Amino acid sequence: MVHARRTSLAPLLSGATALLLATATAQGNNVPAQAQVINQKSFNVLGDVPPPTVANYSTLFIPPGTTKDSLFEKPFHIYDEEFLDIIGANPTLTLLKSSGTNPMFHEAAVWVPSTDDVFFVQNAGDPAAGTGLNRSAIIQRISLSQVTADVSAERNATGKVDVHLAVATPAIINPNGATNYRNRILFAGEGQGSRVAPALYVMSPNAPYNATVILDNYFGRQFNSINDVAINPRTGDIYFTDTTYGYVQDFRPETVIQKQVWRFNETSGAVAVAADGFNMPNGITFSPDGQHAYVTDTGVIQGFFGRNSSFPSSIYRYDVEEDGTFSNRKTFAFIATGVPDGVHVDTKGNLYAGCGDGVHVYNPSGKLLGKIWIGSTVANFQFAGKGRMVILAETKLYYATLKAEGAFPGQLY
Ligand SMILES: *[C@@H]1O[C@H](CO)[C@@H](O)[C@H](O)[C@H]1NC(C)=O
Ligand SMILES: *[C@@H]1O[C@H](CO)[C@@H](O)[C@H](O)[C@H]1NC(C)=O
Ligand SMILES: *[C@@H]1O[C@H](CO)[C@@H](O)[C@H](O)[C@H]1NC(C)=O
Ligand SMILES: *[C@@H]1O[C@H](CO)[C@@H](O)[C@H](O)[C@H]1NC(C)=O
Ligand SMILES: *[C@@H]1O[C@H](CO)[C@@H](O)[C@H](O)[C@H]1NC(C)=O
Ligand SMILES: *[C@@H]1O[C@H](CO)[C@@H](O)[C@H](O)[C@H]1NC(C)=O
Repeated sequence: MVHARRTSLAPLLSGATALLLATATAQGNNVPAQAQVINQKSFNVLGDVPPPTVANYSTLFIPPGTTKDSLFEKPFHIYDEEFLDIIGANPTLTLLKSSGTNPMFHEAAVWVPSTDDVFFVQNAGDPAAGTGLNRSAIIQRISLSQVTADVSAERNATGKVDVHLAVATPAIINPNGATNYRNRILFAGEGQGSRVAPALYVMSPNAPYNATVILDNYFGRQFNSINDVAINPRTGDIYFTDTTYGYVQDFRPETVIQKQVWRFNETSGAVAVAADGFNMPNGITFSPDGQHAYVTDTGVIQGFFGRNSSFPSSIYRYDVEEDGTFSNRKTFAFIATGVPDGVHVDTKGNLYAGCGDGVHVYNPSGKLLGKIWIGSTVANFQFAGKGRMVILAETKLYYATLKAEGAFPGQLY
């Protein structure tokens, strides 16, 4: 009985939400100028559902009644009314820079509160970048003090913000993931060939960007290509994902060790496995209270082996015990377009994921609240404190303003 009542209530509630949102749109209030409501009921039944040769992991979904242009014109897509509280009254999206075909804006976005700089890295395995085996990806930064209110008033502010090189000494080889760590930047380096091992590096956030390697092996064995890194806010331990993108992108040997999540206590030097059972473990972050960890699996993308629908394009959520161990793996979300790559949380515990069409936003129960729709792959992005976000769309660098505030500003641990 109880069960039957619950299931009959569910459509009513979502119907009410849809009605509320539809009313808001009709009246023109509540829905901010750069936002639009996407009614999921409008595409539950398409009638003519395209075959997989036409609609698959690499295609954008254009809901009925919209176009690619209309989706980008109002890029804040409201799937649930909870999203209104995340974007606030006047969210904005601004293009800051294009880099042609060279993917200069890939991952490892880190905001440094003391200087208001945001660092990020070039794609380490993309043939168009020429990086990987023969050349390392580079690190760059922008100064957010240059990104003023009149920049966000424009959709295209190309030329108004300078992008600077940040050359670390010694060099950080093929950086891919990064996070704030004790007022420094902690980079995950993917390595290069068989002689430059993947490593964790810490870099000073101030010129001349001196760096130190803090981990490069597990009992004498190399990692595959360390992809992303996050700090457990309750213990201060470093957690990182290690996967084989270096191999399938032609710059590391074939799988050398299980692809999994590791933890590292820098104080004691102890390295231990935190979780396995992945195809391509990729992004990692913690909830603001440290009680949960999110890990993405981008198995659909297999580098030179192509793409494969039989593998995950998923976000998993774990409980994190007080001792730092992971338990209760739960499948949190599955992504239709592209894969979920970098993940971050806001102060309220909502989860943001960089995907094939932009940034998806989920509440802690895994309900899709909305998207910041770019119309192409966002491998990563980062909050820059309260109400600001930098979005890395490979060859395009965007700046967004919204109401939400990112967790983990950086000085905390
Ligand atoms: C996926 O869809 C795209 C675009 O329609 C198409 O070009 C591609 O061949 C499809 N892939 C597969 C494996 O069918
Ligand atoms: C790296 O350089 C070598 C020697 O010049 C060349 O044979 C090889 O194709 C290059 N590999 C990549 C991935 O660019
Ligand atoms: C943005 O503005 C720049 C400089 O005016 C222009 O070259 C570029 O084509 C514009 N990009 C887009 C996507 O509109
Ligand atoms: C950078 O150099 C300073 C001065 O020698 C040192 O205190 C700091 O630990 C170094 N930082 C890193 C990340 O190596
Ligand atoms: C990390 O190591 C230090 C020093 O041994 C220890 O005090 C601390 O409890 C360890 N942290 C965790 C989460 O085990
Ligand atoms: C996808 O992976 C499955 C399982 O390994 C394999 O059987 C299949 O041939 C792969 N498909 C493609 C298109 O590579």
